[in-house]
Amino acid sequence: MITQPLHPKGPSFSRIITGVWRWNSLSSETVERLIQTSLTEGITTFDHADIYGDHTCEEIFGSVLKKDIALRKKMQLVSKCGIKFPSARRPNTWIKHYDTSEDHIVWSVDNSLKMLGTDHLDLLLIHRPDPLLNLHEVSEAFVKLKAAGKILHFGVSNFTTSQFEMLQQFLPVPLVTNQIEISLSRIDPLFNGDLDLLMKHQASAMAWSPLGGGKLRYEDRDWFGKASKYNATYSQLALAWLLKHPGNIFPILGTTKPERITEAAKSINIDLDKQDWFEMLKWAMGGKEVA
Ligand SMILES: NC(=O)c1ccc[n+]([C@@H]2O[C@H](COP(=O)([O-])OP(=O)(O)OC[C@H]3O[C@@H](n4cnc5c(N)ncnc54)[C@H](OP(=O)(O)O)[C@@H]3O)[C@@H](O)[C@H]2O)c1
Repeated sequence: MITQPLHPKGPSFSRIITGVWRWNSLSSETVERLIQTSLTEGITTFDHADIYGDHTCEEIFGSVLKKDIALRKKMQLVSKCGIKFPSARRPNTWIKHYDTSEDHIVWSVDNSLKMLGTDHLDLLLIHRPDPLLNLHEVSEAFVKLKAAGKILHFGVSNFTTSQFEMLQQFLPVPLVTNQIEISLSRIDPLFNGDLDLLMKHQASAMAWSPLGGGKLRYEDRDWFGKASKYNATYSQLALAWLLKHPGNIFPILGTTKPERITEAAKSINIDLDKQDWFEMLKWAMGGKEVA
């Protein structure tokens, strides 16, 4: 698996990333197997958020890192902050809301570092655009966290193009990604300016739910014999379709099964023919060809 910079100023991530959102009900043995399988396949980047698993996923992952202190140096860690929701772990929160205040961002990062048992994150994302976002406070928080060596790079998630531009204009550091939903079941970023804007900024998209969150059963679709043409599974083809985009999309896997990580890693070797790519786009557009 190759690693590639998200942005000219870094960080360098594995071209496919493992996401931990769905790992909350797993034992630490299974989590360890998922981490080890990812690393064996060259998937060295892991995507977290403070809230995953009702604030438990970072801690479970951290328990594996604490057992083997050599592991942290073999991987890059991403986490997110800014969403709050009612939880036994957060007794003062009574409604789901966003908090991108300087105090909360800094507190959340310190907490993520503690849960994961590490001294830094390779990338921090603001999880969702906050209507009460204070540009000055976000900027202050980022500057502080970078100066302290706690966060190496910064980005956003689920931001519109104008929200991305607005924040970027105010920051002394580059936003290296916008983590957004992109897949054959969510093709709008190809046409709504999301990917164009990132390319303009030399930043890369991280694609969440690259297999449509598992709702789309690609096995049900016969992509015109492509599985046999490429000797690949439908999931591999769906990932190869994302990897073909010139904007360097980094798909984030959501599986809880080590064997599916191994399967997905092989998609990196599939170079789809242009017409096959467009035929899959046609399928994603409900059978309509491009104009
Ligand atoms: N920034 C954001 O707002 C945001 C939002 C959502 C997610 N994310 C990130 O993106 C990551 C991936 O999202 P996701 O979990 O929705 O990704 P996904 O890979 O599209 O979906 C994963 C789901 O699909 C199932 N699946 C995978 N391969 C399958 C196959 N061949 N056949 C049938 N089912 C299959 C998995 O089940 P098994 O476990 O059984 O394999 C799992 O339930 C998350 O872990 C998280 O890190 C970010």
